[in-house]
Amino acid sequence: MCNFYIVDINEYLPAPNFIGQSILMYTATQIQQQQTITSQFLQTGLADEASVDALLQLKDLLRFHEYRYYVLNDPLIADFEYDQLYKQLQDFEAKHPDLITPDSPTQRVGNSLNQSFQTVAHLVPMLSLDNSYNADDLIDFDRKARELSGTENISYCIEPKFDGASISLIYENDELIRAITRGDGVEGEEITNNIKQIRSIPLTAKFSNYGISQIEIRGEIIMTKSSFDKYNQFLTAQGNSPLANPRNAASGSLRMKDPKEVAQRNLDAFLYHVSYFQTTDGKPVEALSTHAGALQLLWDLGFRSPQKEKRVVQGIQPVIDYCLEFESKRDELPYEIDGMVIKVNSLEMQEKLGMTSHHPRWAIAYKFKARQATTRLRAIEFQVGRTGAVTPVAKLDPVYLGGVTVSSISVHNEEYIKEKDLQIGDHVLIERAGDVIPQIVKSLPDLRNGEETAIQFPKTCPVCNSELFKEETEAVWRCINIECEAQVVEKMIHFVSKDAMDIKSFGEANVRKFYELGYLKDIPGIYQLPYEKIGTLEGFGKKSLENLQSAIEASKLQPLHRLIYALGIRFVGETTAKTLANAVENIYDFISKDETALLELEDVGVKVAKSICHFFQNEQNIEMLHHLEAFGLQFKNIKKEATGVDSLGGQTFLFTGTLNKLKRSDAEEMVEKNGGKIMSGVSSKLNYLIVGEDAGSKLEKAKKINTIHIISEDEFLQLIQQNQS
Ligand code: IVH
Repeated sequence: MCNFYIVDINEYLPAPNFIGQSILMYTATQIQQQQTITSQFLQTGLADEASVDALLQLKDLLRFHEYRYYVLNDPLIADFEYDQLYKQLQDFEAKHPDLITPDSPTQRVGNSLNQSFQTVAHLVPMLSLDNSYNADDLIDFDRKARELSGTENISYCIEPKFDGASISLIYENDELIRAITRGDGVEGEEITNNIKQIRSIPLTAKFSNYGISQIEIRGEIIMTKSSFDKYNQFLTAQGNSPLANPRNAASGSLRMKDPKEVAQRNLDAFLYHVSYFQTTDGKPVEALSTHAGALQLLWDLGFRSPQKEKRVVQGIQPVIDYCLEFESKRDELPYEIDGMVIKVNSLEMQEKLGMTSHHPRWAIAYKFKARQATTRLRAIEFQVGRTGAVTPVAKLDPVYLGGVTVSSISVHNEEYIKEKDLQIGDHVLIERAGDVIPQIVKSLPDLRNGEETAIQFPKTCPVCNSELFKEETEAVWRCINIECEAQVVEKMIHFVSKDAMDIKSFGEANVRKFYELGYLKDIPGIYQLPYEKIGTLEGFGKKSLENLQSAIEASKLQPLHRLIYALGIRFVGETTAKTLANAVENIYDFISKDETALLELEDVGVKVAKSICHFFQNEQNIEMLHHLEAFGLQFKNIKKEATGVDSLGGQTFLFTGTLNKLKRSDAEEMVEKNGGKIMSGVSSKLNYLIVGEDAGSKLEKAKKINTIHIISEDEFLQLIQQNQS
């Protein structure tokens, strides 16, 4: 038999009264008090010579936040803020070891449990990881590991820190017999039936090939970004609120009563640690002498281990480099990670280094910059967009979040405000997920003091004062006055923008400035700016004026599809604009096209067709087009030079997942140059789906339609070559 850890389970059991019923009975006032204390500690920290009372207060505070996080799954502070508090206590205890008590949050593994599933013991306690935030922390970790192990140059294995819910799996005689949640680290809840719904977890695996009869494996249950989006779309289509982030979606799934619901969530799992094993002959397993070997073994047996993501290096500098490299790629990954985990590669050395009661000394987490924070919602501003939609924007106390200071966040519409239960004056938890747009995760109603006020949605346009309307099928209120100043300005900003007419050096600021000064009042005005007056403005030297003038001149040559997109017709995005441009000789042809004719076009549904007709039946719009034509803009559909002739013969293509050899935009251009068309979604009109790495819902949808050819990137390149030869 071979155990990695020789541990006395009792060491990890909670001390008496360590977490009792009292926490469950926190009153609203006590919760608010804790939050006030939290802010104080975050601002001032715990002084080296702090009183015993202050120390008790901090410990209590950490227990409170752990309870909110682990037990209630409803944190009141951001993870990063919790980590800061934890570190304050840790640093203090390091300086005053005589003040360490067994009930300190630093001296235990986790927290108490919900009782709805059967409680079972882990074979080996599930420890947490110590955290680091910068290169110095990592250098420090390496120094200690070198000192303790007596080794000059340590070999490390680095892998992502998956942002999900941790899990422990036990296989006996090649069969998955039990799956357990982390729980308090010593005991967790048995959730085997739910875990069996996760397809990346094998129900059987040939551990016997390695002589292993029993094994305990640790990992993380995650939801990919695409499954998360898809699941949220499903929820909202059913009139339910979307989930805040993939981590909540994964952890909330583990203890669901109905395993079928778990299956619906399309969860995934990364397995990254062998915590215990037994062999039939009691001999060690060669493959399990390093951590990288364990990942390889798991991979070979059909588990999703971070085999491809991991890197083994010598010494700490390449560790730092890899962490930074991965951090910069974070948004491109198909799943969320919140840092990297650095592990000493040799298991023998791991054993030698051992562990504290909280974490192993042979591993450390490198946490990426925080992308969650708490702040206050101070006001709601209502903004009018180019289609007249009135969007409420939350004005927040400025807070630093993942590299930027955030002070306003769109809160979409009235229903969203209700769902998130937002009030002016509320404390809110905000987050930047995979994309760059921050979101309000939730309000923290427990922290209200009675001075908060309800958000009143306006009845009239905040800019032009005309009455607002809302269609039954929509969540959005609109100003329908097309002369509304806000809409006019937003339309011009859209017209000059990069994806539209791409008038460089114009931009939002200039549109607003020229409008305010009366130099610009509508889209045709862009082509008759009073340059002599602009030249007298501060910041407009000769050179910048020339640049502006030539960018405006150049935009006259932009192809028709850009002009169509730039007109800002509702529901007409870039792809539809291309389809429309290809369907006519001249933009005026749309005046005579009715809905039925438009519906024949790819990607054009009823809503889009109605909107296009509406635009081209409007006299003011036609007058605007006449003006633009007089200025020499491109109204004709100039067919592309046929390079590879029309070899793809109008066949339709769509790309999904990450391409390895081509940039997505280049691949799409290749299709178009060869006479093919790009589609925006999977439908029976699609001929080819080109599948890159980590393809998601589009692939699943395409598999259900027999007529679609599903091909790889290489096959796509062959197809293009064949057609060109
Ligand atoms: S190793 C004894 N590796 O992070 C060491 N943990 O903050 C066991 N986590 O509880 C953990 N990715 O849930 C390890 N590649 C990874 C991880 C990882 C995510 C989680 C895990 C752990 C938590 C510690």
